[in-house]
Amino acid sequence: MKVLVTGGAGFIGSHFVEFFLREYSDSTVVNLDCLTYAAHPDTVDRLGQIGGNRYHFYKMDIGDPQVAQVLKAHHIEAIVNFAAETHVDRSILDPQAFVRTNVLGTQNLLQSARKAGNLRFVHVSTDEVYGSLEPQDPTFTEQTPLSPNSPYAASKAGADLLALASQRTYQQDIVITRCTNNYGPYQFPEKLLPLIIANALEDKPIPVYGDGKQVRDWIYVEDHCRGIDAVLRKGKSGEVYNISSSAEVPNLEIIKKTLALLKKPESLITFVGDRPAHDRRYGLNPEKIKNELGWKPKYNLEQGLQLTVDWYRQNRSWWEKVRDQEYFKYYQANYQPKGSKTGEVTS
Ligand code: NAD
Ligand code: TYD
Repeated sequence: MKVLVTGGAGFIGSHFVEFFLREYSDSTVVNLDCLTYAAHPDTVDRLGQIGGNRYHFYKMDIGDPQVAQVLKAHHIEAIVNFAAETHVDRSILDPQAFVRTNVLGTQNLLQSARKAGNLRFVHVSTDEVYGSLEPQDPTFTEQTPLSPNSPYAASKAGADLLALASQRTYQQDIVITRCTNNYGPYQFPEKLLPLIIANALEDKPIPVYGDGKQVRDWIYVEDHCRGIDAVLRKGKSGEVYNISSSAEVPNLEIIKKTLALLKKPESLITFVGDRPAHDRRYGLNPEKIKNELGWKPKYNLEQGLQLTVDWYRQNRSWWEKVRDQEYFKYYQANYQPKGSKTGEVTS
């Protein structure tokens, strides 16, 4: 299969490109990514070495009308759309960038796919479009109404609705995946797990927003990629598929587990001010993808966390390269720890 992957220089997209090239020796992957701060400078070359002449890279925005020409030039048969602005905290500071890429960019891709001859279109979305659960609520199913709370989640919900509308209006071949919080190697160290690991390895404080009792549903990135592949190959047009390993854990608990694996003290845990409109709990029901497409996760949380911690330990130069320039500038400029106006952290 000849696939166009957007956002393939980011965290999950790069895992998917690698998985696809290794799994299917007759595949060709065209990676289209405009290389924002979230794309690691080494990723494009690394994937090029894996894919050889079965891999092509375009530095291009998904909102660019030239995307249609790329699709034609490579006789693309399917698109997997990962490209997005993805960090909730950044969406609170600059929602415009999220609307530009996640909504308008996706719309351009949908139109381009239609022009190129109704290609299969997998739109990669998130559980955050469903909003927040109370502790006793059942997990989100594909029928749960969308109720996003952050500009990030709202922009992803907008893209999901445009994708579903295109499927109904133009009979486009479109499927949507909605997944839980991913973790694993190559995740940009602004998201919780790589941030904890990198800070702990440098004996720096671990910032915990609010009371740390928010619950997230964690999945190892490789399991997500295999779920997307199942939907790409077997998903029914117009359908949404939730992807989850059913591993709901409060933030403080996953932080403590990670510190224990790293043999670092819990005294690094530092409570800071809360995120506005911070979703309390995510939990996703994956029965549909399991029953209809035969997908199931390979990794439990303990196995996935161990692999992740080992990778960040062994690949310090990867995360050190991006971290100083980006994360700390952002964090220090925008988050004031509880009870302090000076940027000093409090435990
Ligand atoms: P990421 O932030 O690590 O990577 C995003 C990639 O998209 C980067 O390489 C960036 O350069 C590229 N990009 C951004 N704007 C672009 C544009 N306008 N044109 C072209 N490329 C652009 O993101 P991620 O964590 O790998 O997430 C990938 C997808 O999976 C997103 O759509 C996200 O909403 C979804 N998702 C992520 C998670 C998670 O836990 N990370 C969970 C569920 C769903
Ligand atoms: P994050 O990785 O940003 O993913 P999302 O907000 O999309 O779920 O955050 C995961 C959880 O961890 C979320 O409840 C916010 C919390 N968090 C912290 O407590 N401290 C941090 O420094 C970060 C980045 C997140």
